[in-house]
Amino acid sequence: MKVLVATDKPFAKVAIEKIKAVLDEAGYELVLLEKYKTKENLLKAVVDVDAIIIRSDIIDAEVFDAAKQLKIVVRAGAGYDNVDLEAATAHNVCVMNTPGQNSNAVAELVFGLLIYCVRNFYNGTSGTELKDKKLGIHAYGNVGRNVARIAKGIGMKIYAYDAYCPKVAILNDNIKAADTPEEMYSTCDIISLHLPATSETKRSINYELLSRLPEGAILVNTARKDVINEEDLIRLMEERSDLRYVTDIMPDAHDKFMEKFPGRYFSTPKKMGAQTAEANINAGIAAAEQIVGFLKEGIDRYRVNK
Ligand code: 3PG
Repeated sequence: MKVLVATDKPFAKVAIEKIKAVLDEAGYELVLLEKYKTKENLLKAVVDVDAIIIRSDIIDAEVFDAAKQLKIVVRAGAGYDNVDLEAATAHNVCVMNTPGQNSNAVAELVFGLLIYCVRNFYNGTSGTELKDKKLGIHAYGNVGRNVARIAKGIGMKIYAYDAYCPKVAILNDNIKAADTPEEMYSTCDIISLHLPATSETKRSINYELLSRLPEGAILVNTARKDVINEEDLIRLMEERSDLRYVTDIMPDAHDKFMEKFPGRYFSTPKKMGAQTAEANINAGIAAAEQIVGFLKEGIDRYRVNK
């Protein structure tokens, strides 16, 4: 069996060695396609592989058409909005993710971005602290829970809202459970986004919601670009010079944000929440093991398509 690791944004070298060890043990061959320049490179590489490990790489119908031997795609990470699930099902390909494996890395970056922001992007002027500030965690999944754990250590007042997580699970973690997003946005000094990009969440962080934020609030996004309504955020930041936005996913309107909001906006040049050796190792090994389990024993835990 041939397993392709196709990552525009490569894993740490040590993670590749560990993925290879899992595949060697199973008698499978590893093929590596990193930092590929064009879709053609990807289409060529998938032709004869049985399995693919990806990150945020786009796997659409064209890729499934080209990959005649393909049986499984594992997104080494949480969000799988980059995979056309309908096309996968139509081609009889199983798609999985590796939930939780990179979540601590993303959660730690939230605080990297926040401290950078509240210390005025390290420009030497007097900033503020995170301790005692109200943090609202929007969606209480694996990343949200890690954010809460770290925020407790910093001494923040923590709130969470999740449309799908029972309130009792939030309360059991000694966190205030907001009844609605509106309530949380009206209350918190900082909102940290951990929503997946779905038809329901895309552009849902809009003017109506954001305009509830108290004075001096910060929005931090380590989730997905698409959950933000960018025009609304720009409009509000124009109207309110107290608001700041820090993100790990560069907005489409990055140049506009840079030009209009100096000192109030920062984006990493490339999404790097999950870019740690530990996250790469955890997610990479999980992906390789899930492929072996699926191909050898038909185990499809973490399958995300029908
Ligand atoms: C995820 O969904 O797992 C994170 O957004 C990380 O994505 P990445 O693997 O592209 O860094």
